[in-house]
Amino acid sequence: MNTPSTTLPGGTWTLGDAVVTRFGYGAMQLSGPWVMGPPGDHDGALAVLREAVGLGITHIDTSDAYGPRVTNELIREALHPYPESLFIATKVGATRDAQGGWPTARRPEDLRRQVQENLGSLGVETLDLVNLRMGDAQGPRPGSLAEAFETLVGLQHEGLIRHLGVSNVTGEQVAEARGIAPIVCVQNMYNLAHRHDDDLVDHLAADGIAYVPFFPLGGFTPLQSEALSRVATRLGATPMAVALAWLMQRSPNILLIPGTSSAAHLRENITGAGLSLSGADVAELDGIDH
Ligand SMILES: NC(=O)c1ccc[n+]([C@@H]2O[C@H](COP(=O)([O-])OP(=O)(O)OC[C@H]3O[C@@H](n4cnc5c(N)ncnc54)[C@H](OP(=O)(O)O)[C@@H]3O)[C@@H](O)[C@H]2O)c1
Repeated sequence: MNTPSTTLPGGTWTLGDAVVTRFGYGAMQLSGPWVMGPPGDHDGALAVLREAVGLGITHIDTSDAYGPRVTNELIREALHPYPESLFIATKVGATRDAQGGWPTARRPEDLRRQVQENLGSLGVETLDLVNLRMGDAQGPRPGSLAEAFETLVGLQHEGLIRHLGVSNVTGEQVAEARGIAPIVCVQNMYNLAHRHDDDLVDHLAADGIAYVPFFPLGGFTPLQSEALSRVATRLGATPMAVALAWLMQRSPNILLIPGTSSAAHLRENITGAGLSLSGADVAELDGIDH
């Protein structure tokens, strides 16, 4: 499934009927502080998006809940009409409240509204990929996703969605979704220091399904570990570079969507993800408490 048709590290991956670069871009950081309101630097945010596409990235991850609406509107302003090769993944299942919270919203009418809002703010007739986000800010929660997922399958049949995925889910929920309709990816929290999904990553890889780790750099709390710093120093790289390279080497079905509001960081991250880690480096990193 991987082909070297890009100069970006990691090559490409096939998501349903689309080929995307394994090095993607997570757009959440483009809206204001705590993912609320407009960015401090509107033109800078547009520049990061254009830089991402200019550097060959064909996978952008977003949600209409970012801002809310702000991130999607920035993507539209920067990139519409979208290049044929660009694949924009979005997610539904939560909205925003006035305090910046992320209340769940998964009734059929909530999901239909969120899909319509994403279509409107991105300015498309069909969404490339919609992830059903389950759980809450603390992580996945057990329980059936059937009603919500079946609602998205219905919207897919209406032609509003090309591909489906699930996010913030347990292994049981992944299996439940797959029993209802095909999914092309799972998007869960995963990084060097949070590896609860190790078995799931391998299981999905065997079935040709992508695993898209969110918070690859630790999210709002940057990854910190002595072993990570040691390996980074030895390689003359930053801890962030090593964390991305580790993910890239971890499994071919892992798609990176590191977030940044800085074009310089974006370029650093591309270089970092291409770092070659030796077996000894990986063994040392695998020893990090997770
Ligand atoms: N499904 C879900 O529930 C869910 C939840 C959270 C996130 N997501 C998705 O996952 C994507 C990635 O997550 P994330 O952006 O929250 O976390 P992340 O990628 O782990 O980390 C982003 C943070 O790292 C900083 N950073 C990035 N590159 C850097 C560099 N080279 N040097 C120094 N700092 C750097 C960014 O700050 P700067 O802006 O200063 O670079 C930002 O604060 C999001 O954009 C979003 O699309 C999904």
